[in-house]
Amino acid sequence: MTTRASAREARSASHPVAVIGAGYVGLPTAATLSHFGHRVVLAEREEGRLAALRSGRMPIVEVGLDDLVAGGVGAGNLRFCASAAEAVVGAAFVFLCVPTPQGADGSADLSYVEAAAKEIGSHLESGAIVVNKSTVPVGSATMVEQVIGRPDIRVVSNPEFLREGTAVADSLHPDRIVVGADDSQAAARVAELFSSTGAPLIVTDATTSETIKYASNAFLATKLSFVNALAAVCEEVGADVRDVMLGLGYDKRIGFEFLRPGPGWGGSCLPKDTRALLHIASEAGYDFSLLAGAIASNEQQLARVVAKVEAACGGSLDGVTVGVWGLTFKANTDDRRDSPGVQIAHRMRGLGARVQAFDPTVAGHPGDEVPDELVPDDLRGFTLRADPYEAASGASVVVVLTEWDEFRWLDYSRLLPLMHQPFIIDARNLLDPAAVRRLGFTYAGIGRQ
Ligand code: NAD
Ligand code: UGA
Repeated sequence: MTTRASAREARSASHPVAVIGAGYVGLPTAATLSHFGHRVVLAEREEGRLAALRSGRMPIVEVGLDDLVAGGVGAGNLRFCASAAEAVVGAAFVFLCVPTPQGADGSADLSYVEAAAKEIGSHLESGAIVVNKSTVPVGSATMVEQVIGRPDIRVVSNPEFLREGTAVADSLHPDRIVVGADDSQAAARVAELFSSTGAPLIVTDATTSETIKYASNAFLATKLSFVNALAAVCEEVGADVRDVMLGLGYDKRIGFEFLRPGPGWGGSCLPKDTRALLHIASEAGYDFSLLAGAIASNEQQLARVVAKVEAACGGSLDGVTVGVWGLTFKANTDDRRDSPGVQIAHRMRGLGARVQAFDPTVAGHPGDEVPDELVPDDLRGFTLRADPYEAASGASVVVVLTEWDEFRWLDYSRLLPLMHQPFIIDARNLLDPAAVRRLGFTYAGIGRQ
């Protein structure tokens, strides 16, 4: 929304666009395209999400999204509907932003993409371009083209690289735009929709574009597994991982991004996309052992955090109360899909621990337990608390599993007497060890003393 961006926006033409799926990708995509001046219809079939949007509420937690959506709606450039078939009427471009979850064998489950393609097929305007923004394996553009089965429709791959929590900024100012198609004119037309971003553009074939997306996520996951493994080495040799990362980050070839050790990487994409790439490679006859190692190393990281908690409790979690701070897979999102925090909490519960959890995006009841029917399925078995103090109350250890900023600013002198044993395991290296130790806590981070 900078002046520079606005000047560019004025130059780009306005096009009728449909976006299918109002999730973590579809909603920012629709709002961004409407902000760029395109006329966008966003289709969402899930009633709760659609009702929220129609009443001006955001169905997901995402910084700045409410303003961007309100701007699009206010300008008359963004509206919502319940059906993909309805949304595509009159659209020159149709973005598929539907889920591609992990299938049973690790491959991407394309059933939502296929169903959406079937649903829109006969309703598309002649000459419309279908844009695949969902993360899909090589060959999917061709698959969508075949499902639609119309010679007048082109399918273009345009992978999305936004991160949850910074989706708006990432969409307005992407690092790059990747467009892949066998029809270069169709690719150029899709690229033009994003011209106001001024981002570097890579136009390639669909197979390469689809591969770029998996390569990016697999590289990021491998980088994180390396960092977490190095943190384990730091603990053994007495080095401080933060300074090691500073020393690495100043090397321009390495850079500072994605160098924070943590409880393991998770979320709705890195875990499923690394497994999908492993599957793609294996089907193609290549044993991608490096990537398999990165995935295995992430499993070990979860186990390492659990072992730290066990050690803090004298070697057994049986009957021990553990306070869990943070359940989302990272801060500034409400997304708990494949969250390391949730997985670690379940593992601790499996070892006999009583888990008292707090997360700013999860409703907890002050003073007493959340009624069973109000506990989300993935959190069953945990006691959900209304604030971090309640989650720590009577606990033998508190584990920081998500880097929510508010955990930094608590009254730790108030926390101390609430705990059975004042032990903090900071799996995000969020807190100042010296400050909490001064107050009387025992502190253990990741890769540092
Ligand atoms: P999501 O589950 O949050 O959203 C998908 C939405 O699509 C849901 O609300 C669902 O109800 C809706 N939907 C499904 N089929 C529909 C249909 N036929 N008509 C109308 N609505 C339909 O998923 P997401 O996180 O936005 O991910 C979507 C895709 O983008 C996935 O392939 C994912 O891998 C990829 N991706 C996600 C992210 C991310 O940060 N979440 C980033 C880049 C790429
Ligand atoms: C990731 C990619 O970063 C996006 O580029 C991509 O578009 C997206 O997946 C996708 O395909 O869905 P996202 O899942 O939102 O984005 O989250 P990340 O910021 O990548 O974090 C992933 C995991 O790594 C989280 O559990 C996070 O806590 C962890 N992480 C990240 C660290 O432990 N340390 C870091 O330094 C960075």
